[in-house]
Amino acid sequence: MNPFVYDIPVKVYFGRDQLHNLGGELAKFGQRILLTYGGGSIKRIGLYDRVIKELREGGFEVVELAGIEPNPRIESVREGVRLCKEHNIDAILAVGGGSTIDAAKFMAAGALVEHDPWEFFGANAKPIDNALPIVTILTLSATGSEMDSGGVISNLETSDKLGRLARPLLPKVSFLDPTLTYSVSKYQTACGAADILSHIIEVYFNTQQDLYMLDCMMEALMKTVVKYAPIAVREPENYEARANLMWASSWAINGFINGGKRKAWSCHPMEHELSAIYDITHGLGLAILTPHWMKYCLNEENVAKYVSFGVNVFGVDSTLPPMDIAHEAIARLERLLFEELGLQRRLSDVGIDDTHFAEMARKACRYGDIKGFVTLTPEDVERIYRMSL
Ligand code: NZQ
Ligand code: ZN
Repeated sequence: MNPFVYDIPVKVYFGRDQLHNLGGELAKFGQRILLTYGGGSIKRIGLYDRVIKELREGGFEVVELAGIEPNPRIESVREGVRLCKEHNIDAILAVGGGSTIDAAKFMAAGALVEHDPWEFFGANAKPIDNALPIVTILTLSATGSEMDSGGVISNLETSDKLGRLARPLLPKVSFLDPTLTYSVSKYQTACGAADILSHIIEVYFNTQQDLYMLDCMMEALMKTVVKYAPIAVREPENYEARANLMWASSWAINGFINGGKRKAWSCHPMEHELSAIYDITHGLGLAILTPHWMKYCLNEENVAKYVSFGVNVFGVDSTLPPMDIAHEAIARLERLLFEELGLQRRLSDVGIDDTHFAEMARKACRYGDIKGFVTLTPEDVERIYRMSL
């Protein structure tokens, strides 16, 4: 176990009817607010009107930036930066899913520097020492962006989708009302669940000495997704299911379960290359790749991790031989993702062929081999893409 720092300073208002606190929270940061959101779902569910009412009552000066894309683009970030500078914005209010919140984070950082926000990404990334305060109202349980310090931005010109972590990007306050996710489609609910699961799997499958306590917490979080995601897909207005998924999404990636583990994530860098080139939904890409990555990495030395995953998360019979448990665990994961949640199973199902595999594999390893649960070279990554075809 490595030493680590525990410091998760995001204030969370969880549950129904908390929005009356919005004005009071924003007022701590100033009066000029940039309100940013996606393609219109917040208007369809009546949230936009509720937010505007709160902002009017609080006497805020509001500038709006609508149309943040799924897999948010650097152009939207640039526009947000421009608006922040032009209107001398005090804080950003992001209302939506991970894409809107991620874009807001880099607007917030970009507003305080002179250089282009794309320079926050890549091998020679500029530092992020400061950012405008960010407040979020989450409408989709998936990325955990509402409670983490990261974000991922696409650049279509260079076919890159790059992530960045920096503490100033942590939201100051996040409103988590599960009823706001009732309108999320079955498909996006399933993709969100796959993303939450992946955030935990990326940490759980680790060869470092583990904290038993954190392993148990991760198993509980995964069991929560396994139990409630199919219910949310079948019954979109089931509060218990939506609430459990929402809180699991935040705790899957807010830094707590990590407990100082230093191994790299594996499926996320592979998936970001799929989204970068094909603009597919992040959670779908993860759902397709993860079972193949698990099969590819399985060996006699690391089978114990698959055994605990199979037995403790999916209830696989612990008396079976370890390798049988491992294969059954992966089969149960596939059943969840592709049968119960109804996601597409293969890259070819979403129109992806092997044209860009070599380039994607090279870019997935742009910072060197992926030193995760099992170290992956570009050749390994390409093989996993091929298995997923
Ligand atoms: O744009 P609108 O109209 O709002 O519609 C969105 C969008 O089409 C819709 N939606 C959101 N809330 C809704 C709703 N539809 C109906 N009712 C609601 N209540 O859902 C669609 C997808 O939204 P998006 O924000 O793109 O989804 P998600 O939250 O999954 O975010 C995905 C992005 O986050 C990145 C991904 O790579 C991807 O770019 N990630 C961010 C992470 C982070 N910040 O830590 C980590 C993740 O691993 C991930 O990489
Ligand atoms: Zn993710």
